[in-house]
Amino acid sequence: MDMIVKNGILVTATDSFVADIGIKNGKIANIAEHIEPWDAEVIEAKEMFVLPGAIDVHTHFQLPFMRTVSADDFVTGSKAAACGGVTSFIDFAIQAKSRALMEAVENRRKEADGKVCIDYSLHAAITDFSEATLAEIPQVIQYGIPSFKVFMIYAKEGWMADDGSLFAVLEKARDCGGLVGVHAENPFVIDYNVAKFLHEGKTEARWHGLSRPNYVEAEAISRAIYWTEITRSRLYVFHMSTKEGVQLVSDARARGLSVFAETCPQYLLLTDEKYEGEEGINYPTGPPLRKKEDCEGLWRGLQAGTISAVATDHCPLTRQQRQMGKDDFTKIPNGLPGIETLLPLVYSEGVAKGRLTMNQLVEVTSATPARLFGLYPQKGSLAIGADADIVVFDPAAKRTLSHSNLHMNLDFSPYEGLEVSGWPKYTLSRGKILARDGQFVGEEGWGRFVPRFYLERVPGALPEEEPAEAVV
Ligand code: URP
Ligand code: ZN
Ligand code: ZN
Repeated sequence: MDMIVKNGILVTATDSFVADIGIKNGKIANIAEHIEPWDAEVIEAKEMFVLPGAIDVHTHFQLPFMRTVSADDFVTGSKAAACGGVTSFIDFAIQAKSRALMEAVENRRKEADGKVCIDYSLHAAITDFSEATLAEIPQVIQYGIPSFKVFMIYAKEGWMADDGSLFAVLEKARDCGGLVGVHAENPFVIDYNVAKFLHEGKTEARWHGLSRPNYVEAEAISRAIYWTEITRSRLYVFHMSTKEGVQLVSDARARGLSVFAETCPQYLLLTDEKYEGEEGINYPTGPPLRKKEDCEGLWRGLQAGTISAVATDHCPLTRQQRQMGKDDFTKIPNGLPGIETLLPLVYSEGVAKGRLTMNQLVEVTSATPARLFGLYPQKGSLAIGADADIVVFDPAAKRTLSHSNLHMNLDFSPYEGLEVSGWPKYTLSRGKILARDGQFVGEEGWGRFVPRFYLERVPGALPEEEPAEAVV
């Protein structure tokens, strides 16, 4: 063995038990009550949890968006990820108008490869709904990208899909075994509210939230679910923020539909009170922060298994970048940071406060995201043969969150001053220690692009096989 993680409490989505993990060539090679170290490096994990690393399936590093670019690049963002116990992320390759989807993928890989410090993949975000794009979907899946994002808003960015386009992508993805994720908000109602508020001289950050009430998200989710039901396809709702959304997804799943939802720490912890006062300008994100009842509804959704994943929608923006919207809330660039605090917040606010079990934490931050997006069992599990992407998590560690003790490229944290219990002691990526006590000790460029495939045969995604010769 190259390394042994000793005496830890191993936690998967289904089991918890004390054992040693042996690591060889970057993979988990043995799990046993006692593994003799011989000359292997030993990590002592007594009284600590040993988890499959968190997988953040929703990030936006160096995203050009709303007349600026998100503040973390692939180096700073992925370093911060490792410090907080995230061992893989999925960012987006956003198609340019009239250009191929694969071109967006190749361009994004050029930006990330050789820089990322942890393993990563990309969702293909479709913005051009031509026949040519639809015809490319099987090729993208074959390449190892089986998930697509469709924006139901963002006309100004040129990203928005109308219902016909969403319908067409759902049908095509169904035939090829892909998964379609949506940004679900109704743009027409937002635009109507925005125009009214601006006309009335209402320009402060609080009007960002008020222009996008819960029904703006709920209507779009229900429309996406409707088309999913009609097309008999599969749907993933990115960054769900409302209690109404939880109900819609729960009802859809009870009807047997393959509808999955993600929420983010900001929707579990923060409320629209953050939009008030001078600091309010630092909080606009889409969908916006909601009410306490929504936070509670989302926690219940996680407890009940209605929500499948917690990811971050990590889109950091500095105080200076936010100033672009000081006189007009529609010009405040949208997005919140979070990749480094994902695991500690779900532990501290979820497990330590009795809302989730440790197994549920692993389920929503690692195992289910890996399964949904085709990374399982290489990632998201503690099993022999899996990548040794492991977090040794110290539940006794205490931290007070501040941008100054975090590694994201920011002068602001939405959780400034929040005390959390629990922090990763070690983060391992393919058996290499990337972070120790929350400090990065890894290597730039260590991360690799990971092609993703579902274990089941994906009809339409693979080249037509020659029919076998009949044997007589
Ligand atoms: O406001 C947000 N969430 N910005 C990032 C882009 C997106 O819609 O996910
Ligand atoms: Zn979105
Ligand atoms: Zn996003």
